[in-house]
Amino acid sequence: MSRGQGTVAIIVAAGVGERMGLGVPKQYAPLGGRAVVAHSVAVLAAHPAIDRVMVVIGPGQERQAQAALADIMADPWLVAGGATRRESVKAALEALDVEGGAARVLIHDAARPFLPARVIDDLLAALDSHEGAIPALPIADTLVRHDSVMGDIVPREHLYRVQTPQAFRFGAVLAAHRAWSEGREATDDAQMVRDAGHDVTITPGDAMLDKLTYAADFVQAEARLAATRLPRTGMGFDVHRLVEGKPLWLCGVEIAHSHGLSGHSDADVAIHALVDAILGALAEGDIGQHFPPSDPQWKGAASHRFLEFARDRAAARGAEIAHVDVTIICEAPKIGPHAQTMRARLADLLALPASRVSVKATTTERLGFAGRREGIAAQAIATLLVPNS
Ligand code: CTP
Ligand code: MG
Repeated sequence: MSRGQGTVAIIVAAGVGERMGLGVPKQYAPLGGRAVVAHSVAVLAAHPAIDRVMVVIGPGQERQAQAALADIMADPWLVAGGATRRESVKAALEALDVEGGAARVLIHDAARPFLPARVIDDLLAALDSHEGAIPALPIADTLVRHDSVMGDIVPREHLYRVQTPQAFRFGAVLAAHRAWSEGREATDDAQMVRDAGHDVTITPGDAMLDKLTYAADFVQAEARLAATRLPRTGMGFDVHRLVEGKPLWLCGVEIAHSHGLSGHSDADVAIHALVDAILGALAEGDIGQHFPPSDPQWKGAASHRFLEFARDRAAARGAEIAHVDVTIICEAPKIGPHAQTMRARLADLLALPASRVSVKATTTERLGFAGRREGIAAQAIATLLVPNS
């Protein structure tokens, strides 16, 4: 992107979330299995008209932000914010200016996780004829002044609720921030651009864009998200042969045993079944398709890499893993003593609480190949909440 070119999205995520009262800043709280900030970053990063995404964070939040955005971008563009929203935006605009500026910027609150692409399209189209554009919604409720008792009704015909993202030509918003006197506060950028004498137009907002401010807003956001996702179930099954003197890996845990499983990778039969279950719920093929046994790079590979791949596929689709259940079928070794360690390991790999992971085992009453200790089989089932499409 050369100087003054392109479109940059700035997500302000440097607040402390005091009114939410969660103990962690609300932008890092999980919402539908992913940090609040990650929802809008994913939409902005995927939008074809947006060239770069910058996230403005609070002091010492680099690792938290990187973890929150890991499934979207390996190396996010993080800029340190300030003590108020206005100062955070100013820091972002100055940092962008140092890197060559942009033609257009979109400035968005991390606390508004649900961002319809249509809103972005409308805002950018409006910038063709205005210096700024903001999404806003008319007010449906009756408005009343209140002192100690009910006062006058406020006519609402010309009143709108203002949301973000707000779109501006970069030069106009940067100049407006620079011209603003430090003592004054502003709750959004449009009022500053307007104050600088520019034309700011209104495009249709969206109820989904409402900001998460109080704890009750979170409950409503979870419900909104649930309404857009369907539970999907996938199953997986795998078998590997037992051979003497090999290490035995099950659910990512090495088990001391006279025999181990043979296969192209480390032959962790339980993880393989689980990977197929997750891929099945996503309808994205199977483990052999993504990691062909004919490919030498997977020889001896640790199977946790396959599980991390499936986890990341789910996250990239905006899906949440609601629950997984693995059954190991073998005569020996005894799985019971290791089941809790296995659960913890799988939960860790999937970045889920252990309460969403089940590991159990059964024998086949000495019948069949498992009963004769020739091999170990595993079955898995995974339930995912997948965006409805
Ligand atoms: N914000 C910011 N820098 C600040 C203050 C706020 O980047 N110094 C961001 C927030 O992270 C949020 C957005 O501006 O995404 C809107 O602010 P608000 O909803 O007020 O969030 P908080 O300031 O975190 O919440 P509170 O006011 O309740 O503490
Ligand atoms: Mg605030």
